[in-house]
Order: sequence, then C-alpha cells, then structure tokens
Amino acid sequence: MALPPPQRLWVGIVVVMVVVVELPGALQKCIFDEVQAEMRVVRAAPIYPNGPPSEARLRALARRELPPTSGKPPGQPGWRASPLRSLTVKQSSSLGKIAPHTPPSPQPIRIQTWIPRESENLSGAENGRLEAAVEEAVRIVSSLLSVNRVQGPLLLSRDINKYCKFVWRNSSAINYNRCGRAHNNYRSETCLGVTIPDDHLAGCDIYPEADSPRKTVLRPDGGGLPHTDFLLYLHVQSTDKCRAEKVLKLVLSPVLADLPLCTQPTVAAYAVHCQTDSHGRPVAGVVVICRHRLAEETYTHQATAQAVIHELFHALGFSKDLFHTWRDCSSSSQVGVGCAARGEVIHPDGWGQMRIYTQSVISALQKHLASTDPELGGPLENLDVLPGGVSSHWESRVLQGSIMAAALEDFTTVRIDPVTLAALQDTGWYTVNLSQAQSLVWGDGEGAMFGSLSTCQDSSSSFFCTGSALGCHFRHLHKGECQTDPYLEGCQVYKPLKNRSECWKRENSRGSAGQARTGEVFGFDSRCFFTNLTRQNQSQSVLPSSSVEGRCYRHRCTGPNRYQIQVSGCDWVDCPAGGTMQIKGYQGVVFCPDRRLCLYPDVAPPSGDVNIFPVPNTSDHSETVTSGQDGTRSPLRPTTELTAVTGLSFAAAVCVLVAVMASYRKCRSFRARIHSAPVAHSDP
Ligand SMILES: *[C@@H]1O[C@H](CO)[C@@H](O)[C@H](O)[C@H]1NC(C)=O
Ligand SMILES: *[C@@H]1O[C@H](CO)[C@@H](O)[C@H](O)[C@H]1NC(C)=O
Ligand SMILES: *[C@@H]1O[C@H](CO)[C@@H](O)[C@H](O)[C@H]1NC(C)=O
Ligand SMILES: *[C@@H]1O[C@H](CO)[C@@H](O)[C@H](O)[C@H]1NC(C)=O
Ligand SMILES: [Zn+2]
Repeated sequence: MALPPPQRLWVGIVVVMVVVVELPGALQKCIFDEVQAEMRVVRAAPIYPNGPPSEARLRALARRELPPTSGKPPGQPGWRASPLRSLTVKQSSSLGKIAPHTPPSPQPIRIQTWIPRESENLSGAENGRLEAAVEEAVRIVSSLLSVNRVQGPLLLSRDINKYCKFVWRNSSAINYNRCGRAHNNYRSETCLGVTIPDDHLAGCDIYPEADSPRKTVLRPDGGGLPHTDFLLYLHVQSTDKCRAEKVLKLVLSPVLADLPLCTQPTVAAYAVHCQTDSHGRPVAGVVVICRHRLAEETYTHQATAQAVIHELFHALGFSKDLFHTWRDCSSSSQVGVGCAARGEVIHPDGWGQMRIYTQSVISALQKHLASTDPELGGPLENLDVLPGGVSSHWESRVLQGSIMAAALEDFTTVRIDPVTLAALQDTGWYTVNLSQAQSLVWGDGEGAMFGSLSTCQDSSSSFFCTGSALGCHFRHLHKGECQTDPYLEGCQVYKPLKNRSECWKRENSRGSAGQARTGEVFGFDSRCFFTNLTRQNQSQSVLPSSSVEGRCYRHRCTGPNRYQIQVSGCDWVDCPAGGTMQIKGYQGVVFCPDRRLCLYPDVAPPSGDVNIFPVPNTSDHSETVTSGQDGTRSPLRPTTELTAVTGLSFAAAVCVLVAVMASYRKCRSFRARIHSAPVAHSDP
C-alpha cells in the first residue's frame, strides 16, 4: 500500500495506540470501531424470521425450551467440552402450555457465553483465567442492564443474502421477499470468524414458485438457546489484530531497535455485534480475547474483566453503528414497548465536537459538570476518526477514567460512570440501574467548558496539570506524574507512577528512600497529598526549600469533604479542604485537597471487601449465566471474590511508555495537518 506520507503516519498513530493496549500501567486501546466497520450485521427479527409464528410453531418452540435448571455443579470440566455437540433438547411436559400473556417487565439480561470451535485450545490455567474474567464481566453487566426477556429460546436469523441466490421481488406475489433459489455453496453463518452452530439458527425455506406456498426446507430450525437474551461468542485467538507487531516494527523501528521488550503482542480484546432483533437490539456478538492476554505474566483479573465489559458495552449498543438505531422509550411505561425511533443522535456542538444528544446522557453530564448548558451531550473521542466522523468512545479529556474512554488505564482507575450508564439507558433496549454507577470524580462540578483544549492549560484547574511535576492522581489513591497521551491532545494530567504509586499498598513503603525525611505512611487508609514537608533536624535550623510533590499520608474522614491526616510519628490533625497546613516537627506544608476525599464513598482501594466494581444483586445470577445443558455454554460459577492485585510488568510498561512518547511527538504536527479545520474544542 503506497499511502501518501500523512496517511502513513496516521496508521502509525493507530498502531502505536494498539500497542499500548495491553501492558498494565499503560494505556489500553480498543479497536472496536475498526473491527465493527468490517462487519455485515444481520438485522432481522431473529426469533421468527418467517413472519409471526403460528400457534403450532409457538407450541413447538415452547416444547423445546428447557425448564430452568440448576445447571452443572460449579467448576466441572466442560467449559469447552465439545463445541460441536449440538444441544440435545429433550423435552417432557408443558406440551401445549404456553405461558399466559403477561406484560413484559424488564429483568436482568441473561448473557449466554459460547466458546466456538474455532477458539484455540487453552491450557487449564488459561481456561481458568478466562472463565473468571468473563464470569465477572457478565455478572456485572447483567446486574446493571435489564431487558424484556426473549420469550422461548433465542434463535438467530440466517442472512438471506448468503443462502439465497434469488428473492421474489414482485410485491403482489404470495412469496414476495421470500427466497426462490438457494445458493449452491451456502454452508453456514459466520460472525467475525466464528461459525455459528446450526443449532443456534432459525431454519430457512425455498419457495420455487412465486405464487405457490409449496416450499422446500433448506435448513431446519435449530433448537436455539433457552434463557438467553444475548449470545456472546467468546473467541480466544492469536490474530493479526492481536499481534500487530509487524506494523509496529515498521513504524517504530528506530525506537524499538533499543527496546527489544516492546515486541510483545498488543491488543487485549475486541468485539462486534452480529445480529439485532426486530427492535434493533443486538442479540448476538463476538468478543475476541487475545490469547497472550491470558498468559500468566501479563494476566490481571480485573483488567481483563474490564476489557470484556468494555467490549460487551460496545456489542450491546454503545457503538457508532448503532447510535442511529437507538430508540426513544421516554413516553413509554415499559422498556421496549411503544418506543419511537430516535433517528440521528450525534451532532456537532458549537466547537465541532461530536456529541450524543439524548435525554439521559445530557442530564447525566449536566449533573456531573454542574451546568445547565443544553449543548452538553456526551462528547465522543475524535482522535482515530476522520473529520466529521465519530468514534464509539467518550472524549477522554472530559470523561477521563470512564470504562468507555478509548484508552483504559490502570484498572484501579477505571470506572463504570453515570454517563456511560445513561447512554445504555438511552439505547431504549435496556432499563439500567443507574444507582450502581461509580463516581467518576474527574471533572465533577467543573462546568460546561471542562476538558476543552482552551481551558486545560489553565493552571487554575485542579484536574489538569502542566510541566512534568510530580503530584497526585485525581482520585488521590495514587501518586502521579504530570503526563499527556495522544487522546489528551496536549492537555496533561497526573497519571499513576510506574512504580510504587499506590498509597494504599503497605508494601510500597518498603525501600522507599527518604521516608524518614518525608514522613510518608503507606497503607489502606493512606491517600496522596501535594506537599513539601521535610522533617526538621535539631542541628540545622533552616533546610533548603524543597519542591512540592505527591506523597502518601494516612487520612480519616470526619464528615463530607472533612478529614484529618496523620504524618509518620505525629498525631492526627485536621486538614482543611482547600487549605494548607503545617505539621509540628516538619518544615513546609501539606495541601489539603478540596472535594476529593471523604466525598465519594465508592472511591476506595480495591481489596477483598471493597470492590472496584459495584456489588451486584445476585438474585438472578445463577439463572443468568448457568443453564448448562451443553458443554460449551460456560458453566460460570457463583460469584468469586476479587483477588488482590497482581504484580505489574514494570519494565514492559516503561518501555512502551517511551515508545508512545517518542512517536507521539512525531505525530502531533501531522495531526494539525489532518484537522485542517480547527480541532474540536479549540479556542472560541
Ligand atoms: C406480479 O405478480 C402478479 C401476481 O402473481 C402477476 O399478475 C404480475 O404479472 C407480476 N408482475 C410482474 C412484473 O412479474
Ligand atoms: C439497583 O441496584 C441497587 C444496588 O445494587 C439495588 O439496591 C436496587 O434494588 C437496584 N434497583 C433495581 C430497580 O433493581
Ligand atoms: C521499580 O521498582 C523495581 C523494584 O524496586 C525496580 O527494579 C525497577 O527498576 C523500578 N522501575 C522504575 C521505573 O523505577
Ligand atoms: C513549601 O511550598 C510552599 C508553597 O509552594 C512554599 O511557600 C514553601 O516555601 C515551601 N517550603 C519549603 C520548606 O520548601
Ligand atoms: Zn472500545
């Protein structure tokens, strides 16, 4: 491909970001948009593709449906026992008994996972990791989203363009829009490299004459999947997209020459939705998990679970290919009933920033930024996007740390925020338990202009920073270093340090040089404070002044936004939010952050009893994820507690950071060129 120089560089940016994906502590990039763009989605009524079902057919389906079972005992082998074995659906009872028609009320979405036969054979350990991460992701998503459940087993549609060579187009013919001739070489339905088992698919018929009901069955109906509202094909692979290292070498060879560690595989996961139902709701999707992600050295349970949640949210509706099919159910009492098409929901604001304008998103963002500005739709990332296009991620300057930002950082800093949940609510397909949103903190109460390129350099902002100073990550659980990344477009924020960043980890105090001098204390209740405290020495009366940096001291809450701190060897003292204070025996001051501590009950270190994710209501959980009649549906086990953080791959993270910084400088001038129009959010 002989691209002109600017585009070649553009590819460069993309690839660089892809590279960053995986390494703990560095950015993770999602390539959802690239992948979904290559997909042809089957849009149909998946359950009854041949028109409204007759009563006999409904009865037949009801007969097939399995009663809820307790499933297999937890943890038994069979996670991928026999992908090829079809569901053996033997039914007794309930013949002719169709459930009485009750108005649907939304219930937690049942996400069924299925490992396709194309998936790579995993070792026992890899399997265990995969199972744990996906189980957690599914549990969390189904505790957040409710749907009008699919009645009867879920059956996906076949793509008429694939199996049919010729469709009757005479609108007055009886067989209008039905298939007249089959393709001889029709084999099966696929989605992102996954062959969909016939058993998951509705059948299809051929009508050889335009006006005769005579038909031949090309494929019979499959059994479908009972108790399933969304079918997740979980494909573990080592694809080119996972690797991307060849391209990486081309682009970064000068940098990489010195950094052999950087030739690691890259992308963590990606996803597509494959099929939507008659209301437009996605009912099936593929999440590809890159196998290297499950390798012991790089595996982090929470980061993998987060990546799966991120991809699931895309596949469930947070996608630029689905934004225009969202439905407005605000005038309807029940989700999914009596809803109207929303039409286009993405529009540029006054500065050219593309935003999602739907009611819950606008309200959530207005509430978050404490502004009534009606222009505050959900801002979409503009980086890997052509002018006028949109991406399926939030603008990271405005919603830094959101699960749906393009770059997922250290898992302890990623949140399932209110604006993301509002967006899922506004799809019209789900009832979302908004009370489970996690505090984003970032930008809270900062007003409509927060995150704009014109204001982020403003030194009065307590979220952005300038220079290369040391300080605190904005949630004050981590020390930070003032840095940028390509998505910040020149704005800078305090990002967690590569090493010993967490104030809440007691083990970080080990070997921390100069602790005696600075009075630092690490531990579960320690937080990061901007300070230049130095212990006074009896012999020296005045020390040279030292610069302010982020350090860890203990804190305890005495009220909302009110707290005390404790420096090593000293008493607890009040730290007035927004003010400074001095500590006896030390010279210098501690700055007491305003509206960051003792205000957000859910901002806490990850630990055995304080999860980084909301604790789900487990009432429906077992049914949600286990109905294991067949080996390949994941026998997901009951909730397991999050385990402690595993170690980070420091060397690799640092090395990639170097690569990013170097290439980023190279790319910036180019960015200015491609956005010949002023970049969104530039100076008014
Ligand atoms: C369409 O079908 C009707 C009814 O079968 C028939 O009378 C008519 O000639 C057909 N029209 C065309 C253009 O084939
Ligand atoms: C939403 O989640 C909260 C916290 O888990 C729970 O207490 C509440 O009952 C849920 N609300 C609904 C409507 O499910
Ligand atoms: C991080 O800490 C480890 C162990 O203390 C050390 O070997 C490594 O060099 C440190 N890395 C950086 C970037 O400081
Ligand atoms: C600590 O920082 C404050 C504010 O920047 C400064 O006024 C003071 O001189 C510094 N003190 C020492 C001992 O460095
Ligand atoms: Zn994504």
